[in-house]
Amino acid sequence: MSEWIDVGAVDDVPTLGSRVVQAPGGDIAVFKAADGTLFALRDRCPHKGGPLSQGMVHGHSVTCPLHNWVISLKTGEAQGADHGCAHKIPLRVEGGRILLAASTLLARAA
Ligand code: FES
Repeated sequence: MSEWIDVGAVDDVPTLGSRVVQAPGGDIAVFKAADGTLFALRDRCPHKGGPLSQGMVHGHSVTCPLHNWVISLKTGEAQGADHGCAHKIPLRVEGGRILLAASTLLARAA
């Protein structure tokens, strides 16, 4: 099996928005920042499991829609005084397609 799985086109992810990829280990949110950078995190806020894919993207961060924790898209870490980490998924872009690391797609979320 390939180490990377094609999950869709870069153009299918709205700028300042996200697209959810369903995976055996749990949903993954692929975000696109205003500068076009893509990030992938488990679609589960480290606070109480809120859907980060429905949060607001700003800079390289997303604000959780439930209680407004700000999560770094680069690291998955909560910012400011909050502590916790949304699992980050390795992502590559090749020929306009988004590739996610197969091992983390298939691994069960902790
Ligand atoms: S569940 Fe995300 S801030 Fe509470």
